[in-house]
Amino acid sequence: MSITENTKPGTTVDTRAAPVFPVDFLWGAATASYQLEGAAHEDGRGLSIWDQFAAKPGKVHRGENGDVAADHYHCMPEDVALMSELGLNAYRFSIAWPRILPQGIGTVNGQGLDFYDRLVDALLARGITPLLTLYHWDLPLALHEKGGWLNRDTASAFADYAEVVARQLGDRVDWWVTLNEPWCSAYLGYGNGKHAPGIRDKWAAYTAAHHLLLAHGLALPRLRAYTRKSTQLGITLNLTPVYAANEHPRTLRAAAWADKMSNRWFLDPIFRGNYPESLFADDGVAPPPVQDGDLDIIATPIDFLGVNNYSRSLIRARVKENGAGDDPIKFYEHVTSADSSYTEMGWEVYPQALTDVLVRVHHDYAPRAIVVTENGAAFADQWDGSNHLSDPQRLHYIRDHILALEQAQAQGVPLRGYFVWSLLDNFEWAEGYSKRFGIVYIDYPSQRRIVKDSGHWYAAFIAAQHRLQPREIEP
Ligand code: FCB
Repeated sequence: MSITENTKPGTTVDTRAAPVFPVDFLWGAATASYQLEGAAHEDGRGLSIWDQFAAKPGKVHRGENGDVAADHYHCMPEDVALMSELGLNAYRFSIAWPRILPQGIGTVNGQGLDFYDRLVDALLARGITPLLTLYHWDLPLALHEKGGWLNRDTASAFADYAEVVARQLGDRVDWWVTLNEPWCSAYLGYGNGKHAPGIRDKWAAYTAAHHLLLAHGLALPRLRAYTRKSTQLGITLNLTPVYAANEHPRTLRAAAWADKMSNRWFLDPIFRGNYPESLFADDGVAPPPVQDGDLDIIATPIDFLGVNNYSRSLIRARVKENGAGDDPIKFYEHVTSADSSYTEMGWEVYPQALTDVLVRVHHDYAPRAIVVTENGAAFADQWDGSNHLSDPQRLHYIRDHILALEQAQAQGVPLRGYFVWSLLDNFEWAEGYSKRFGIVYIDYPSQRRIVKDSGHWYAAFIAAQHRLQPREIEP
């Protein structure tokens, strides 16, 4: 079906298709605490590893940090009103652990809990379903000083923190994500050091990953105990399907390795209770400190899997000039595709990846339900000071990925929701404020919000979804 939507006076945007998703499908946008809240030193918030990392020269673009960010801590009521204007029926946010427990453990900061209490109430008052992430990378600095994710005790500290939050919000929040993208926390934080805490050590990455997974598993029963029966508990993984650029056996082996490293490293323990065969040996490291029973804890059943997907990996084995290969598994390179366009992050726009990864996860791991917890694109927005901002590339990106979602749904994937990354432009980690992902533009000096055309399009799409839903027949 092809429809045309007037998104705002004077603009007409072709939405191309308006697939009918289930009536209770969550159409939302996502954010994360450190990336948008600001108020880093207010109301008793403790420091996180990102406060410390951003303060180190050379770690973040132009030395930027999350001290102010999108000032959401102060603008929260207006931001929730904006979500409502856009017609979002769901909002994904994360809780800043150091706001709740400034030292990571011990004394609870009531002012921190109050903020999220008010946020949840504001959302519910407008009919917006909250989807809460407990950990989106801002580990309390005090825990890092005791070893952070290399210390097994951090997993139990996380479970205690999860319980504190569940006791407060468990009566109102039905969707809980324990961890966001533990691959990034482990690999970027401890493996290549591009993210906080900036450690570069392969074995440390596997150890951090194991403790993150353990934290997830230990938190689940604590969350169950203090939430409602209808509550859905899950974890969010960043999954990027890997495609071989040619049929050479070395390329195929490299693609299998890349898939193991980027996807199966977390999928296998969560859904199968084991790490992929030879994962550590292939990487030339000793296994992380896995204790008896850990993998059973990690494989505790979940209600849904959150999938973050932005792009694909296209790779080929590298071959030396004399035609000989090197390390048959890991000696590969990323290939660009002449037919594709790329976002400001350098990520290929490839909507088919979303369909493929969802279908694959459904077939290979059969989660009970899947929510796309992040999908979106950074493009260089040009704002002219008016109330209007044209961002056709982002609009097309979102539209084409929703079509890809429809393809996955048609193939039987049990989808329950889709969240655009991001509601607002925000602090893009090591890239600082240089990359804009929002469907709403932030003019940082004034903190003014301007809905981009992609935001208007998404609002019109959601409204069309509601119109297309079968009406209930009056008795
Ligand atoms: C994901 C992160 C999110 C954001 C997007 C662009 O990996 O979860 O915080 O930075 O990438």
